[in-house]
Amino acid sequence: MRLDKYLALSGERTRSEATRLLKAGAVEVNCAIVRDGAFHISETDDVRLYGQPISDQSMQYLMLHKPAGILTAARDSRASTVMDLLPERYARRKVLPVGRLDKDTTGLLLMTNDGELAHRLLSPKRHVVKTYLATVTGRLDEDDVTAFRAGIDLNDFVSMPAGLTILAAGEDESTAMVELKEGKFHQVKRMFLARGHEVTALHRPSFGPLTLGDLPQSESRELTSDEIAALYACAGMTQNTKGGSHG
Ligand code: URA
Repeated sequence: MRLDKYLALSGERTRSEATRLLKAGAVEVNCAIVRDGAFHISETDDVRLYGQPISDQSMQYLMLHKPAGILTAARDSRASTVMDLLPERYARRKVLPVGRLDKDTTGLLLMTNDGELAHRLLSPKRHVVKTYLATVTGRLDEDDVTAFRAGIDLNDFVSMPAGLTILAAGEDESTAMVELKEGKFHQVKRMFLARGHEVTALHRPSFGPLTLGDLPQSESRELTSDEIAALYACAGMTQNTKGGSHG
């Protein structure tokens, strides 16, 4: 098959995008850059895009450092959404956020077009731990820690036991790390509010096995194969259930 046709078919991209990638020197066949779309490849050739095997291109796994002021939603005609922060090629490949962060919450948002993985990671049965750094009004104390550990009655449901580690406790303001195994709407804010504390800032540095590290705000990056493997393990899935595209 022609290389430009193969690139187009394997990545849901147009033939002209494939040509652009080829011209930019992004495509290697058996470790040598090939710029000619008419080049013929066979099944045994190792074709790579930006160094990644083409067979890995169909499923996309990204982390985004979500800034404040941006909606976690697919597209919105009036407001900016997390999709506006991703390069266009991901939107075309139906990459969507896994779960949501409130508009004013910052931090790690996993984004993928692997629907089964997303579904499993969000299932409360899987107990995927999400970590939040919260700044709240008032002084947090050991009673709050005990209440989080016991589960808090939020009227429509009782929260699962959650970890609360107080980092600083002042009369007017405290900061704490929260570890949650579920992710209901406004859950962290509601749990603190039930204890008489209003959340004034919320940041998520980690989601399951993923951590933001030094990824700058508003930027995204593709996950490494180790991170993808860790997510699959967390979801109780084996990677070859997705056709072996990642290992
Ligand atoms: N809990 C909240 O209250 N808000 C978020 O954005 C995430 C968890």
